[in-house]
Amino acid sequence: MDFLEIAKSRYSVRDYKKKKVEPEKLEKILSAAHVAPTAANLQPVRLIVVQKDEGLNKIGKAANIYGAPLAIIVCSEHTKAWTRPFDNKKTVDIDASILTDHMMMEATGLGLGSVWICYFKPDVIRQEFRLPATLEPINILAIGYANGNPADPERHAAQRIPFPEFVFYETISCRM
Ligand SMILES: Cc1cc2nc3c(=O)[nH]c(=O)nc-3n(C[C@H](O)[C@H](O)[C@H](O)COP(=O)(O)O)c2cc1C
Repeated sequence: MDFLEIAKSRYSVRDYKKKKVEPEKLEKILSAAHVAPTAANLQPVRLIVVQKDEGLNKIGKAANIYGAPLAIIVCSEHTKAWTRPFDNKKTVDIDASILTDHMMMEATGLGLGSVWICYFKPDVIRQEFRLPATLEPINILAIGYANGNPADPERHAAQRIPFPEFVFYETISCRM
């Protein structure tokens, strides 16, 4: 499958089988994160891989991970992050998210389902996983084998805004 085919076949999985993710697949998912780019290659992202019931239950206090057997908490280390000098914008969220996306797409390519989760209580994650103050949980990626039928890979024409609403050539123009 080429990349676009994998991207089209990905969908948010909100029901998982109990089956664990094989260690060799997890290794590939983590390798996909490892090769992801970050601003100035500063690599300010830290991953907490959670597979044991104890950890999954801790995450359950902060978020719904839909019964996934594996969750990766993607955190940004603020002290290591790049800051744009002109406006002091920090790229921590961007760095964390490109790693998350790399892992999500690798999981898809390996036949796994996933869902990206931002609807979580950060203070609970911080407390349960004893995160240092400088480490911010940005995303949780839940991964496992999907239950039920996959979403239609051709659904995007109906489920995404049309190209003229989000792609502009040479200059932005308002079409609202
Ligand atoms: C940044 C981000 C945050 C998201 N947070 C959640 C979440 O907390 N819970 C959830 O069930 N889905 C979450 N999603 C999944 C989106 O709802 C989903 O990707 C979107 O509706 C498109 O559906 P699809 O992934 O099936 O194509 C999130 C996705 C992104 C990219």
